[in-house]
Amino acid sequence: MAEILIVADRDAAGELAARVVWEYLDGVPEPVLGVATGSTPEPLYRELARTRGGRDLSRLRAFALDEYVGLPAGHPESYREVLRREIVEPLGLDPQHVHVPPADAASLPHAGERYEAEIAAAGGVGLQILGIGSDGHVGFNEPGSSLASRTRVKTLTEQTRRDNARFFDSIDDVPRHCVTQGLGTIRDARHLLLLAFGAQKAQAVAAALEGPLSASIPGSIVQLHPHVTVILDEDAASGLGHADYYRDVARFKPEWQGW
Ligand code: GLP
Repeated sequence: MAEILIVADRDAAGELAARVVWEYLDGVPEPVLGVATGSTPEPLYRELARTRGGRDLSRLRAFALDEYVGLPAGHPESYREVLRREIVEPLGLDPQHVHVPPADAASLPHAGERYEAEIAAAGGVGLQILGIGSDGHVGFNEPGSSLASRTRVKTLTEQTRRDNARFFDSIDDVPRHCVTQGLGTIRDARHLLLLAFGAQKAQAVAAALEGPLSASIPGSIVQLHPHVTVILDEDAASGLGHADYYRDVARFKPEWQGW
């Protein structure tokens, strides 16, 4: 099962998640990192920038989970721009090595196959950072997404559009479509690192980690994966039934085990 780590707040989560990411990046010669957007990974990205030291990350390849359809190139809320601000510049990545699903009108018919081919050509994702939506989505795989799905165009739910309206002037500006890695694509990553913070995520977290495996809760795919690390703040963990056990597992984690 997933290793579930419950920490006091999102800063502590950012520090712990950064240790997991550095262990991966420092441990392999050709790292391929799957990167999430949204507000959840922000403390992690800040901590990576703070603790980067003298590392040269220009060879690191990164793949975004998803991208909005219909935003003009350079729109500040397109995930390509978000990643430029949050990781490319602060971490000194080569922008050519940071891939985002193609989402312009001309690319859409073949966007999924193209993106899957790019991930495969890089050797697959080694460590995938994930957030979770309040409706249980991962990437933009909304409830009902096939557990075997691959990268494709999806329609956003009204709840996701409402949740993400805070990044736009109004909900009317939030796109209705996106291109997202599928749940099958995400499951192919060798290690999943899922982060969630705040009481508004508690229900989705409990359903994903302790509920039945179900396309209705796309985040429940973590139950199918052999190597998952989950880092939660107390609020996001508040709906879990076995939190005391997870705390014991963390407290007695053998030192040799690594992440
Ligand atoms: C967003 C993204 C997801 C993200 C989730 C949660 O819309 N597409 O990758 O994990 O929804 O967002 P946030 O981290 O802002 O709560």
